[in-house]
Amino acid sequence: MKAYEFTSASALEGVYGAAIGIQLADRDPGQPGPGQVRVAVKANSLNFVDLITLHGAYPVDGIIPLLDGAGVVEAVGEGVQRFRAGDRVVANPHANWIAGPPAPDSSGMVLGIMANGMLAETVILPESVLVALPASLSFEQGASLPCAGLSAWSSLSGGPSGYNVTPGSTVLTQGTGGVSLFAVQFAKAMGCRVIATTSSAEKMDRLKALGADHVINYNERADWGVAALEATGGIGADLVVEVGGPNTMPQSIIAAKVGGRIAMVGIVGGLGSIDFLHMLPINHKVLTLYANGMGSRRDLENMLRFVDVNGIQPVIDSTFAFDRAADAYRHFGSRAHIGKVVISHQA
Ligand SMILES: NC(=O)c1ccc[n+]([C@@H]2O[C@H](COP(=O)([O-])OP(=O)(O)OC[C@H]3O[C@@H](n4cnc5c(N)ncnc54)[C@H](OP(=O)(O)O)[C@@H]3O)[C@@H](O)[C@H]2O)c1
Repeated sequence: MKAYEFTSASALEGVYGAAIGIQLADRDPGQPGPGQVRVAVKANSLNFVDLITLHGAYPVDGIIPLLDGAGVVEAVGEGVQRFRAGDRVVANPHANWIAGPPAPDSSGMVLGIMANGMLAETVILPESVLVALPASLSFEQGASLPCAGLSAWSSLSGGPSGYNVTPGSTVLTQGTGGVSLFAVQFAKAMGCRVIATTSSAEKMDRLKALGADHVINYNERADWGVAALEATGGIGADLVVEVGGPNTMPQSIIAAKVGGRIAMVGIVGGLGSIDFLHMLPINHKVLTLYANGMGSRRDLENMLRFVDVNGIQPVIDSTFAFDRAADAYRHFGSRAHIGKVVISHQA
């Protein structure tokens, strides 16, 4: 079977700042051992962390890339109880996190970073990593959901802290990347009001079509946190899904209501630092900041059920064939996407 591997021998051409590359290799598909399942992968998707990985943030030489993948069970090893050949499945990127709050023995083992990931024709995984893919979702849709969807899901449900939104809550999202569009769709399905920020008029229209109630162009309103306050009669958002990092955090703090929450998700707005003066309102407004690290297998099961029942259609920007995976990385690296960039093994 064919699998991509990270290689530090060359950088992936055409991806800004890439320090390492990917190469196609022939590997023995192998037989699943006790408790293991062999999956024929049908689709993958890219996440911002896959770019960070290409930039050399983790020692990944020789491992198979990508956190996200969905496929069909080909064979099961001795003792496997939850799956049989022919089942449609999706993998939880946190290989050892089954349920409940994160703990030292459940964290760290992330597919495509610390262990072999999903960018291969077949993968062998412990059955405990896999979740059934609802019939309403294609493999491409299923593969778009685990990493980005779980981060949006955990932000809205409060993750282990339990600071969940309720119908009528105001949720502020940032941009049109994978996590943020799932946050818009999930929040609307939960009965929330959504204020979304983005960078262009075209993307504003896409966000409105997706259900966002109020959209702010942050290139026109650098003080978009103030704009969010104005849109809520000076009250602010119950929850800010903070994907931007230090460069967006000051406005996120302004946008949050007194007693509100900020889900700390990412750094897609760039690295940097935040002045303590900008942080003072965290105390004045008694905000709760909570971290987010995707979720457990149980979280993935709950999220997929929610997506299925509510008929949520993941926003797929573009789909590349398996043998054009490098082009998928290049497109994702160009930052021109809206939603998810997918690799299909069926294309
Ligand atoms: N903690 C977790 O469990 C977890 C899980 C998944 C992802 N993450 C993190 O969450 C972040 C988002 O991930 P992703 O995969 O959704 O990223 P992505 O798809 O690459 O997001 C790209 C989009 O972010 C928006 N953006 C860029 N700079 C921005 C800024 N200054 N303000 C607001 N929006 C900005 C842009 O949309 P517009 O042009 O519309 O603004 C851009 O198209 C990343 O930092 C990632 O590492 C964390």
